[in-house]
Amino acid sequence: MAIFNNQSLPTSSAKYLQLAEMIRQAIRNGQLLANDKLPSVKSIGQDMQINRHTVMKAFAELIAEGWIESKQRVGYKVVANLPIENSRAVGVSPTPQPLFDFNLVREGMSLSERRSEKFEYNFSGGQPDLSLFPFDEFRRHMANVLARPQVSQMSYGDSAGLPELIEQVKIYLRKSRAITNREVVITNGSQEALYIIAQLLLQPGDQVATENISYPPAISTFKNAGASIVGIKQDKLGLVPEDLADKITGGKIRLIYLTPLHQYPTTVTLPVSRRMKIYQLAYQYKIPIIEDDYDHEFHYRCQPLAPMASEDPQQLIIYMSTFSKVMFPGARVGILAISQSLAKAVIQYRLLICHKSNVLMQAALAKWMASGDFSRHLRRMTRNNLVRRDHAASILQNTSCFEFTLPDGGMALWVKLIPPNITASHLAEKAKDMNIYIQHETQYQLSPDNNQDRYLRIGYAGMNENKFAMGIEALVKIIQALHEETK
Ligand SMILES: Cc1ncc(COP(=O)(O)O)c(C=O)c1O
Repeated sequence: MAIFNNQSLPTSSAKYLQLAEMIRQAIRNGQLLANDKLPSVKSIGQDMQINRHTVMKAFAELIAEGWIESKQRVGYKVVANLPIENSRAVGVSPTPQPLFDFNLVREGMSLSERRSEKFEYNFSGGQPDLSLFPFDEFRRHMANVLARPQVSQMSYGDSAGLPELIEQVKIYLRKSRAITNREVVITNGSQEALYIIAQLLLQPGDQVATENISYPPAISTFKNAGASIVGIKQDKLGLVPEDLADKITGGKIRLIYLTPLHQYPTTVTLPVSRRMKIYQLAYQYKIPIIEDDYDHEFHYRCQPLAPMASEDPQQLIIYMSTFSKVMFPGARVGILAISQSLAKAVIQYRLLICHKSNVLMQAALAKWMASGDFSRHLRRMTRNNLVRRDHAASILQNTSCFEFTLPDGGMALWVKLIPPNITASHLAEKAKDMNIYIQHETQYQLSPDNNQDRYLRIGYAGMNENKFAMGIEALVKIIQALHEETK
């Protein structure tokens, strides 16, 4: 314990009294809290190079004064009710002191979006059902990793990711997404990949183009790098290439951010013809495209469209994906599949942030992928999410409160509220009071001018059918009550 480490006692008064005063002082200033266990007599004696009897005498003094007590099988501990008022007993705040005021020159992102899991009904669109993750199966791969640790990987180096995982990811991208001939870098989730790309490619004054309704964490990351955002029109088929063309010619667009397979948050799949037009524009004006393929596996109508990165002779597409939806967000495993030169820059930039990432998780994931268990899990999850999508669609249709187009894939429905006079943001706010978390259009609109405040994003993958139906029933009751109020 730091209180006793390398400390020598002051020279005046008896040693045991000095030690007792040191401990009292540690309790007064909060280094030791109520119920904290004290180090053993022997270890204090050794650390401070004093006789054990001196320590025992100091403890006896403190026991007599009511600061500490001796408990069988526990040893000595600070008492639960301390004898002074200004000591920091559990739950008692210290006397307030004016704290240092930091001059922050940059802002991060608000956390409120991330707290959806606290609600009884969590309709967050990106939420996988964690109860379906095969933790037992994964534990076996993790146990295997721990049983035969690769000691050479436990140190620094390899900021690109664990070579075995990179190998597995390359195989997976080649077989399931037709992505070949690219360098793969493993990141701490795709958010870290977005951050690094933004830092490497953007500077103040640059513009980033994305749909008028887009993914807020990406937007915040681009802004943090000094860029401003240019909203591009979108319709039922997704981003409108003609509007992108207009805005490219008149502006300083240096990067395009897209989620082509299931546009975030509207779920629309960008058709091939539009992808080609966008690619041509990007090539003509030398603008890289981030293709964020965050939920590729969950496509139900047909095989998912191959990513734009699979037909990218110039390698101008910065392809990213994540294991957050097929595993769980806490795994923090993201993928970048990019050109060799960009990969080199990313790997070097990663050294600035975190040296390398979680080797144990990456090794277990590599084993899980190599074993075939991963593919089985993906098939199970995709089947399951399809059933949940269809169930969600029929529940929502029966309410007569929502209008929507059935998406080809993803984990959420983008629905329009039918009852007039109720805004989506107001409904979402009221829903919170009833323990329901639901996302709404205002959270995603880049500009208030476009905001109709009528759309909700209703995630269906995160809870079972029964719970989904109960949550929607509760939501409909709120809609009915609001409708009555506004009549
Ligand atoms: C559009 C989009 N990109 C990426 C992610 C995943 O981010 P991460 O890999 O950092 O968990 C999400 C998850 O919600 C998402 O919706």
